[in-house]
Amino acid sequence: MSKSGHVNEPKKFTPKDPPKLNPPKEDPITMEELAKCDGTHSSHLTYVAIMGTVFDVSGNTAYSPNNPYHVFAGKDASRALAQSSLKPADCRPDWEDLPEKEKGVLKDWFTFFSKRYNIVGKVQK
Ligand code: HEM
Repeated sequence: MSKSGHVNEPKKFTPKDPPKLNPPKEDPITMEELAKCDGTHSSHLTYVAIMGTVFDVSGNTAYSPNNPYHVFAGKDASRALAQSSLKPADCRPDWEDLPEKEKGVLKDWFTFFSKRYNIVGKVQK
């Protein structure tokens, strides 16, 4: 994998062995509940939300504490994903004002997550 490869073209990251996923859930999930699902509470699963859709990433240690993508855990990280940023300040839900190119990257990440992780609910507005 080249250094910049997946950041520009996340859609190429289709799983080799696609997991069997459950039907997507629409359960409302509050921001407080989402925040608890950041991998630091043994009583909670690990979630990442994209454009308000909540994915269960518990099975991937990349999102565990001390690992590279832990910064996304327990958050709607849409903006950071769109901008290929790992800064905590960018892990925010607002993305509508971004340029089309970044919106495209965000949609690609949504597709990437949809192929790998169960959708467990929607962030409550
Ligand atoms: C030098 C920079 C980077 C390198 C070398 C790198 C490398 C990787 C690798 C090897 C994977 C695993 C691919 C796979 O499972 O098929 C991955 C996944 C991922 N990367 Fe990066 N990455 C970099 C920067 C970033 C940045 C800046 C972001 C910010 C959006 C990012 C977000 C992600 C995400 C969300 C995943 C998916 C993890 C998953 O759920 O499987 N990466 N990266």
